[in-house]
Amino acid sequence: MTQEFKFTVNGKPVSVALDNEETPLLNVLRNELGLMGTRFGCGLEQCGCCMVLIDGQPEKCCAKPVWSVVGKEIVTIEGLGTPERPHPLQQAFLDEQAGQCGYCLAGILITAKALLDKNPSPTRPEIAVALDGNICRCGSHNRIMRAVEKAAAQMREGGRA
Ligand code: FES
Ligand code: FES
Repeated sequence: MTQEFKFTVNGKPVSVALDNEETPLLNVLRNELGLMGTRFGCGLEQCGCCMVLIDGQPEKCCAKPVWSVVGKEIVTIEGLGTPERPHPLQQAFLDEQAGQCGYCLAGILITAKALLDKNPSPTRPEIAVALDGNICRCGSHNRIMRAVEKAAAQMREGGRA
């Protein structure tokens, strides 16, 4: 039986009609809403590349059933910034060339945003702990950490959150 599921994505209310309430949020974002920035990696909540913010908390959405996000506020990588007006994290990742293939970066940027929202001055160990659930197969970890530190500094100096 088709059901309507209503929630908010990047500040906009959305309503999707689905036959299966267990459909993962990741599939809904990509297939129903056309938001292709959130990646499918393992599909097993192991790699972190499908991370989105759900009511401000970073969560993997590849196995999160759509029924569980009804009424919640979702932020995807598309909600962070635009090419014309990138989020300081996005700009810092570009400046530091913090990715190689880039496949992991949407998830990492979302996790980093959640960290900086809570802790504007994270230490390097705190960044490492926050990003522990995000795997980067290219081994860009050092540049990723530098980029998060740089974005944090810029945001403290008056950039936008
Ligand atoms: S695709 Fe969701 S954690 Fe890997
Ligand atoms: S930049 Fe390739 S997986 Fe992270």
